[in-house]
Amino acid sequence: MNIAVSILTSNYDEEETIERINKTDASELHVDVMDGHFVSNKTSFKHLEKSKKKLDIHLMVSRPFEYISRYALFKNAEYIVIHVELEDNLEDLLSYIKSRGLKCGLAINPNTPISQLNPYLELIDEVLMMSVEPGLGAQKMLDNVEDRLLELVDIRNKGYNFRIVVDGGVNDQTINRVKMADVVVSGSFICKSEDYQKQLDQLRLSKDEKKC
Ligand code: DX5
Ligand code: ZN
Repeated sequence: MNIAVSILTSNYDEEETIERINKTDASELHVDVMDGHFVSNKTSFKHLEKSKKKLDIHLMVSRPFEYISRYALFKNAEYIVIHVELEDNLEDLLSYIKSRGLKCGLAINPNTPISQLNPYLELIDEVLMMSVEPGLGAQKMLDNVEDRLLELVDIRNKGYNFRIVVDGGVNDQTINRVKMADVVVSGSFICKSEDYQKQLDQLRLSKDEKKC
């Protein structure tokens, strides 16, 4: 399992947070883009080019087109993920992400049926399964996460290639609940501390310790 670090909730400013993550062995940087409409909060980032890690860009926005154009320009951008709850033509948006040379994904909110992903399973490289309501860091992981993750893993076993990323509320007490994921996103557990590498080590240790 790989660990991506979300820079949404940190003790440090954006630049210092990114530089601290650069010094760790985290596999990637998770960028939570919010427009104040799809979710009520708004974010903007000014130092993403400083990241030595690949970027997984999570667009919590109602009109993704212009955001895709903008974020695809970052040389480290690897995945751009849009929400399946959008009413837009998702196929066009996914193709647009691919046409910009990036991998594409769909994020799914905790109360959206997993079956809503069905029409797109062949097209996507990632499912970002929300384990909290989107829009805010440092929330508690929801109860239905294990069942939904299992459902998603079963679907993937039918022959699809997308990676499964779990996003929200991942800490040393909850990581064991989502160990079937390929990647977990952890934000506040890492960035609200002084020693990011120690927190990453602690996450991995907690996952292994409770294996039985
Ligand atoms: C929620 C975001 C998550 C979240 C992760 O809208 O998508 O990436 O902030 O942060 P923690 O680990 O603090 O829940
Ligand atoms: Zn996110």
